[in-house]
Amino acid sequence: MIMKYFKKVLCVMLAALMLASFAACSGNSGDGAKKTLVMATNAYFPPYEYYEGQDIVGIDVEIMAAIAEKMGCDFEVADMEFDSIINAVDSGKADVGLAGMTVTEDRLKNVDFSDSYATSKQVIIVPEDSKIASPDDLNNVKIGVQLGTTGDIYISGDIEDGVYTGSSVEQYNSGMEAVLSLTQGKIDAVVIDEQPAKVFVEKNEGLKILDAEYVEEEYAIAVKKGNTELLDQINEVLAEMKENGELQQIIDKYITAD
Ligand code: ARG
Repeated sequence: MIMKYFKKVLCVMLAALMLASFAACSGNSGDGAKKTLVMATNAYFPPYEYYEGQDIVGIDVEIMAAIAEKMGCDFEVADMEFDSIINAVDSGKADVGLAGMTVTEDRLKNVDFSDSYATSKQVIIVPEDSKIASPDDLNNVKIGVQLGTTGDIYISGDIEDGVYTGSSVEQYNSGMEAVLSLTQGKIDAVVIDEQPAKVFVEKNEGLKILDAEYVEEEYAIAVKKGNTELLDQINEVLAEMKENGELQQIIDKYITAD
């Protein structure tokens, strides 16, 4: 009898829990309309986000689509300049920002970040015959970066701090444009995240990635500061996807181990 009662209570509690965890998207209007989670990104960053025809695909898109589905939400991707993403999340124009976005102290002042879903590093791309062999050789050269990325922030900071002398930073709207400029001999090196670097080097003749990496970092999902409800739900689903291998499956689909 008591057991039965407990079971009932447990059921009610579980149901309430489930309701709570789906609350974000069930729509409070009662008309059954689902909320749409808008993901802000910059879709020139393979394999995390890039265009395949009209569609934006990639690791980040699949991760967020899976999270949205588990939350019972519809899902939509909004492509924008990389340095507009934080603002879009902060202003509520977007619910989340996923863009191979590195967690930094500075960004944490404006948004909250989920648990990390990937690690990465900044690498240096140079022409095959370049004299640049390591980060120590970045003096008296022109270095291309994507505007507002950690590559930009680190290199600009290092030049300002006098770590590198006689060098300048060339900021591009996308990593691809920076790499194009490199192939045209307009700049001497590009600093960018490892996986996009691999894709760009594969697609363009005469380039290589230096063995020595520049900085290590963690990617995470940005949400509006203080939106702990959404953040908790995202972290919960992320943990589940790490646990059941779903996250790794998505990554493996786009990145082959070398
Ligand atoms: N990880 C770097 C950063 O957070 C670069 C990200 C660029 N992402 C993109 N989708 N373009 O600054």
